[in-house]
Amino acid sequence: MPIIETHNLHKVYRSNGAAVHALRGVDLQVEPGEFVAVMGPSGCGKSTLLHLLAGLDLPTEGEVFVDGHPVHALSESRRAVLRRRTVGFVFQAFNLIPNLTVADNVDLPGLLAGRAPVDVARERDRLLERLGLADKKTTFPGQLSGGEQQRVALARALINHPTVLLADEPTGNLDTRSGTEVLNLLRQFHQEGQTIVLVTHAPKVASFARRVVFMRDGRFVSEMALPEPGDASRILAELLSIA
Ligand SMILES: Nc1ncnc2c1ncn2[C@@H]1O[C@H](COP(=O)(O)OP(=O)(O)OP(=O)(O)O)[C@@H](O)[C@H]1O
Ligand SMILES: [Mg+2]
Repeated sequence: MPIIETHNLHKVYRSNGAAVHALRGVDLQVEPGEFVAVMGPSGCGKSTLLHLLAGLDLPTEGEVFVDGHPVHALSESRRAVLRRRTVGFVFQAFNLIPNLTVADNVDLPGLLAGRAPVDVARERDRLLERLGLADKKTTFPGQLSGGEQQRVALARALINHPTVLLADEPTGNLDTRSGTEVLNLLRQFHQEGQTIVLVTHAPKVASFARRVVFMRDGRFVSEMALPEPGDASRILAELLSIA
């Protein structure tokens, strides 16, 4: 059974009387353990799609199922619970809480989910160690580099073992080296079974996934399976030729 399934997803934003049709009938299926990139130009609806998958917003029409839950039909409070337990989200702008330490930022979703503080702390230490941040526990986000902040955000997104990890242009604010580091980490978590949906406008970023869906003007227009990681330059050339 797919872990994410959308049917005929539409989203119309209304601002100042004008309607913006951001999604025009998106059908997406993601199987457990997949690493999917949705690639398309600015304004094509990528962030809108991720927000609907995460239950951060509701579709105008259509259905979203995540891990069997009908996200489109849940109340705001039920969606909040789903977000904490089922979905991890990584944003382009990191979105860490500036007056909490690294450890407290990572712990927060675990504590909000009602888990025992000792379990959350153990899990957080394990994640920070793995992400090369063991010595940054008591540091505040403002004292970290962009790459470090995004790795903290990744730890925060993974603390509750989410069924799906959603990443919105996760390397958009990073230099090439820190960006590649974050993408390699995503690839490693995928290889251990984590389901990931990433959205990006950049072929280089999409090349880290195993399936790329191309999006234009609120619709999926084509898709492509990528081979095992390795021949990155050939994959990139192919993505560039389609982009
Ligand atoms: N809250 C909103 N109110 C009104 N229009 C919106 C809102 N959010 C997005 N839009 C519009 O919907 C369309 C899709 O936006 P979206 O943010 O999903 O694009 P995107 O593919 O993520 O772009 P980018 O690559 O620049 O992040 C755009 O035309 C955008 O202006
Ligand atoms: Mg966006």
